Amino acid sequence: MSATVHVRAPGALYNVEIGPGALDEIGPMIRDLTPAESVALVTDETVASLFGMKVDTALAREGFRVLSLTVPAGEQSKSWAVAGDLCETLAAGGVSRTDAVVALGGGVVGDLAGFAAAVYLRGIDFIQVPTTLLAMVDSSVGGKTGVDLRAGKNLAGAFKQPLGVIADTAALATLPEDEWLSGLAEVAKTAVLDGEEFMSWLEARAEQVAARDEAVVTELVERCVRFKADVVARDEKEEGPRECLNYGHTLGHAIEKVLGYGAVTHGQAVAEGMRFASRVSVQVGAASTEFVRRQDRLLDVLGLTSIEERVEPSAVLEAMHVDKKSRSGVVRMVLVDSPSSWHCVPVQDVTISAHLDAWASTKGGE
Ligand code: NAD
Ligand code: GLY
Repeated sequence: MSATVHVRAPGALYNVEIGPGALDEIGPMIRDLTPAESVALVTDETVASLFGMKVDTALAREGFRVLSLTVPAGEQSKSWAVAGDLCETLAAGGVSRTDAVVALGGGVVGDLAGFAAAVYLRGIDFIQVPTTLLAMVDSSVGGKTGVDLRAGKNLAGAFKQPLGVIADTAALATLPEDEWLSGLAEVAKTAVLDGEEFMSWLEARAEQVAARDEAVVTELVERCVRFKADVVARDEKEEGPRECLNYGHTLGHAIEKVLGYGAVTHGQAVAEGMRFASRVSVQVGAASTEFVRRQDRLLDVLGLTSIEERVEPSAVLEAMHVDKKSRSGVVRMVLVDSPSSWHCVPVQDVTISAHLDAWASTKGGE
């Protein structure tokens, strides 16, 4: 019930080790990856209280000098200031070019620690130990690291592939429901993008997934990582195929921004974005209404139910324009016509507005 997925990117080849209990082997696994004398173990307060001591002890047992660096849990830690503090602490702790950073936690810790590793001494090794579903299926793989700026999320960063990724699927048992759903939205996105086989597999097991069946979740993570590894191998820097990973995110990010971060979960927002994009695709792409209904059913059974909040269409449209995929003032959206058949296309405001009006009319009062 464990798996290894190989990731190949320009100048990097690494493994993602997936399985329940991987944290029990973390010391030797990290020793196999690096001859470092010191490791900086970066985590957040919540994850530190769950797994920090175990990982710290396992690393020390392998002879590493461990520098434990714990940041507050939550997106606010993914900042320029916290990244700077981390680098200062690495320097004060005598971490050298041949040492390594270990990121233990969700996407926030992975992006932050990876960014610090990318810039400290112009780059030292780092290892991802994801503990959220989102981090296991998405953020720990592919080398995107970074921090948020006041102007927006993920606006400063670096591509920095890890030396390896170790995903203990048993660690997901303690994940709060909202965080679980955030990961599930990326899972649903991946299944739809990957194709008929994965989508059918997920439909058949949606209830076991929702119940966090360990064997099913381990296979689920493996399938998602295989898909992402393939995308990253073809397009590390998001110049083409990697754009598909934004499916559902153009509207999803806009909803989060307009409603205020935290008003709905990230997972719900992305799922809403997938529902919306499939409807746009019926008009400007080639999606069938049967595909729209099928995707709706999958999201429903995974627990990613439609949001009830009404969001002002004009504000959402404005926020959609800020999306990184926009070109020359025109919104570009990832549209899926059928499982695995996707395209990233310009969609005119008049089309988006009509769909936003129809969408908003199904939501609750203002
Ligand atoms: P997160 O890192 O904030 O973790 C969510 C919460 O779960 C935190 O409070 C954390 O302390 C807690 N937690 C972590 N593991 C736990 C466990 N096993 N049990 C109980 N609680 C646990 O959020 P996330 O959803 O993992 O990541 C979101 C971040 O990832 C965003 O900043 C986003 O921009 C980024 N991201 C990056 C990429 C990429 O390619 N680099 C891709 C997608 C998302
Ligand atoms: N999660 C988007 C990406 O890795 O490109």
